[in-house]
Amino acid sequence: MNATAASNAGSRLRALLASPRCEILLEAHNAVSARLVEEAGVPGVWASSLTLSCAAGLRDNGSLSSDQALDVLESMTARVAVPVLFDGDTGYGDFSHFQTLVRRLIARRVAGVCIEDKAFPKRNSFLAGERQELADLDEFCGKLRAGLDARGDPSFVVVARTEALITGAGLDEALRRAEAYADQGVDAVLVHSKAGTFGELQAFMARFSRRVPVVCVPTTYYQTPPEAFDAAGVSLALWANHMLRASVRAMHDVAVRIAAERGGRAVEDDVAPLSELFRLSDQQAFEAQERLYAAGPQQRAIVLAASRGDGFDSLTRDRPKCMLPVAGVPVLDRLLTQLRAEGVRDLTVVRGYRPEAVAPAGVRLVTNPGWASSGELRSLHAAVESLHGDVVVAYGDLVLRRHVLHELLACDAPLSVVVDAARGFLESGRAADRVRVSGPPPRPGDDAPRFLRDVSATLPDDGCEGEWVGLLRARGAGAEALRAALEALLAEPGGEQLAMDALMRRLLAQGHEIRALHVDGGWADLDTLTDLAAATP
Ligand code: SPV
Ligand code: MG
Repeated sequence: MNATAASNAGSRLRALLASPRCEILLEAHNAVSARLVEEAGVPGVWASSLTLSCAAGLRDNGSLSSDQALDVLESMTARVAVPVLFDGDTGYGDFSHFQTLVRRLIARRVAGVCIEDKAFPKRNSFLAGERQELADLDEFCGKLRAGLDARGDPSFVVVARTEALITGAGLDEALRRAEAYADQGVDAVLVHSKAGTFGELQAFMARFSRRVPVVCVPTTYYQTPPEAFDAAGVSLALWANHMLRASVRAMHDVAVRIAAERGGRAVEDDVAPLSELFRLSDQQAFEAQERLYAAGPQQRAIVLAASRGDGFDSLTRDRPKCMLPVAGVPVLDRLLTQLRAEGVRDLTVVRGYRPEAVAPAGVRLVTNPGWASSGELRSLHAAVESLHGDVVVAYGDLVLRRHVLHELLACDAPLSVVVDAARGFLESGRAADRVRVSGPPPRPGDDAPRFLRDVSATLPDDGCEGEWVGLLRARGAGAEALRAALEALLAEPGGEQLAMDALMRRLLAQGHEIRALHVDGGWADLDTLTDLAAATP
C-alpha cells in the first residue's frame, strides 16, 4: 500500500467535506468515466453501487461482489488524483466483513466508504422503498465502530447513510439515526431522500445538530440550485448516476443509427475520435517510455572522442579533453549517461589520443590510431559498423542540458542537426561550425521546419546565422546516405583531413534535406567552457 497516497486521498475528501460551500462528487463506474469526471474539474468521484452494478450487468442488490467492485476502484484510483468515495452498500456483511472492506479500500487508495442502514440484501432506494427494511440501529452502530477502528489510515473517511426517509420511517427516525451515527464518530452522515423537492432534506437540516457534515443525493430534487444546499448547510451533494445515464443515452443512439444504416458513416462526427481514446489511455506516455524499455530497433549513438583537444596543455597530458571532469564528472561519462536516459542503448565511442584513459563501461570502443594526422571523418569511419538504422553522432566534449538531446530525438527527419542561433563566437573570435539556416529560430507555435543551408568554419560573419552544436542524427535512408558520402569523401584526395562539416556539405550538395533544430543555449563544448579550471578538482 502506498500510505502517503492513501492518506492524501482521504485528506482531499475531508477538505471537500470541510469546505464552506456545498461541494459535489460525480458518479463514475470505471476508470475512463472517473478520468472524465476529473478532467471536467469535478473535485471527486462517487463510485455508485447502482452504476457499478448496472455497468457489470447486475442488479443493485448486493449482487456485485466486493472483489468486482475493488477491481474497478483500483483502476479508478490508478487513473485519477481526485478522491473516490465508495458506495459500500450495507458493508458487505457483518462488522467483520466491513472491517475487511475498509482495509482493502485503503490499500487501493480509495478516499472513503459510505454504508447504509438497510437490511441485507438491500435494494436500490428508488425501488419500492416502503417495502425496504431498516437495519437494527445497535447492530449498525457496532458495524460503524468496527469500520472506524479498522482504518489504519486515520484520514480514511467513513460516511454513515440513513435510509429512514426512503423507507417511510419519517423525519424523527432519520434524526434519531443521524445523531446516533454521529455519536459513533463517523466523519459525515448521508441522509437519502427520494422527494421531488429539497423540502424534506431542508426540514432535516433545520433540526439536525450538525455535529458532522451532511451529504445528500439530489437525484429526484435535481432542480435545487446549489445555493440552496449552501444555505441549508449541506456539505456535499452526490450526482450519483449521471455519467452512466449520459453514456447509455449516447451509446443507444449510436447503436440504433449504425444498425439502421448498416454502417457507421453517419455517426462519425458524433463520436469521440480515436485519438481521444488514445489520450485517455495515456498512449503518449507509453511511446515516450518505449524507447527506454521495449525491445525493437535500437537507437544508436557514435561519440567522437579521438582528439586530444587544443588549449588544455597540462590538463590533457594523460587523457583527452573529453575525460576532463566538469562538476566532478568526466564530460564523456556525463554525455553517455544522458544518451542512455534518452533511450540510446547502443553506444560506440571512438578513441584516439590516450585510448587507455577512455574506457567507459557498457559501450563499444573503437579506435582511430591515426587520430593525430587525420580528421573527424576518419574517426567516424572507425565506427562505420554502427552507422546505420537510427544513429546520433555527437562530439565527445559536449556538455548538454538534457532537453537538447530530447529535441533531436523527437525529430523524425532522415537527417537532422542541432543549431544555436546565438553568434557569441563572432565577438570572442572562437572557432565555430558556422551555419546558414532556412529561417530564424521558430517562436512558440511556429512549427514550420527549418533546414540547414550551409555549414563551415569559414562562413563570413555576415553570412552565418549561428553554429552547429556538434549533434547530428541520421535515420534509415538518411543514415545510408551519410555512410555513402563518408566513404566517398574519404576516398577522395585530402579526404583524410576532413571534418564533419564537409560531410554535411556533401549531403546538401547531393540534394539531401537536413532539418535544423534550433536550441537557445543549453549546451557547451569544452572549448567554450570558460571556467573549466574551477570545475576541475
Ligand atoms: C447509488 O448511487 O448506488 C446510491 C444512490 O446508492 S441511490 O441510487 O440513490 O440509492
Ligand atoms: Mg448504492
